Amino acid sequence: MENEHANQSELEYVSFPILKVFPDQPLPGDLYLFLNGHFVKYKTKGDNISQQKFELFVLQKVQYIFVTKGEADSFKSWSDKLTHKDKETLVAAVGEENAIVVEKHFDVREGYLSFIAKEVTEESVKVILVKTRDFIQTIKEKRTADKFTAKLLSYSQHVADHSTNVGNLSVYLALNTGYSQQIILENVYLGGVLHDFGKTKIDPKNLEEPPTSKKYQTSIRKHPELGRTALLLDSGFSEEVLRIVGEHHERHDGTGYPKGLKGNKIYDLTKLVSVANVFDNLVMASSEGDIKGRQIKAFRALEKDQGKMFDPKILGKCLRALERVVL
Ligand SMILES: [Fe+2]
Ligand SMILES: [Fe+2]
Repeated sequence: MENEHANQSELEYVSFPILKVFPDQPLPGDLYLFLNGHFVKYKTKGDNISQQKFELFVLQKVQYIFVTKGEADSFKSWSDKLTHKDKETLVAAVGEENAIVVEKHFDVREGYLSFIAKEVTEESVKVILVKTRDFIQTIKEKRTADKFTAKLLSYSQHVADHSTNVGNLSVYLALNTGYSQQIILENVYLGGVLHDFGKTKIDPKNLEEPPTSKKYQTSIRKHPELGRTALLLDSGFSEEVLRIVGEHHERHDGTGYPKGLKGNKIYDLTKLVSVANVFDNLVMASSEGDIKGRQIKAFRALEKDQGKMFDPKILGKCLRALERVVL
């Protein structure tokens, strides 16, 4: 009986990858969850899945949701259309001649999402490493990469966007502060993309608490080390990448966490990723005004640092590089 029921259901419902769903966008049909052996309607056509809910699904490693067979095609074309629109926006920002980089950027973005949606395994590490190598190689083939990688940014409050924004900005800062070696660029990029990986290891319930609460604060302070150890367990990532992940909240004056490392105890590439991370967080923190205005405000805030968060020498170089794309 049980089996019969399942077979009958399969005729009516088909799975749809959660990663193909666009949060905050009106759904083209009804969405179902498979709970306790039954399909239960979760959202109605025209509703949307909030960003927060979407991330919760991803972090809870939900891989699929369900749609009726009749609506499967409209879901697919809905997702394809929105992906296409996102790509067009970025191609417009970096120029048609760099469209290939945008393609590779989306490869990594997708790769990152499926990376956090699964357990870390040798295989999943390999996939993200290959995508990274490919992205950096493509960038290196473009002589103007040092001018456009900082334009590969999206602002949707989405965990994948923050991660790839920080990755792309870190590469931009590296390229503009004297780094050009493939392996170094791969490390700084991967460190940027994975810097907050540890957040996926924190109980999502604690992250739903107000950011000022003790519960939130204690949990969040664990994410650099949680990320480092989670990535360490399955080899494949270089020591440099792990250092960046573990150190990205350390501060130049020694008041950061988890170790309170000071000044030159912090790895040079971490310093670049930290600047990129804070810059992106500042831009995302406000929703007032257009992106350009928010970037300028973030830039001005970084200028005031005076050796607290950042190594003044490195920050100076980063600001000179950011100036070219922001101001
Ligand atoms: Fe972080
Ligand atoms: Fe971050």
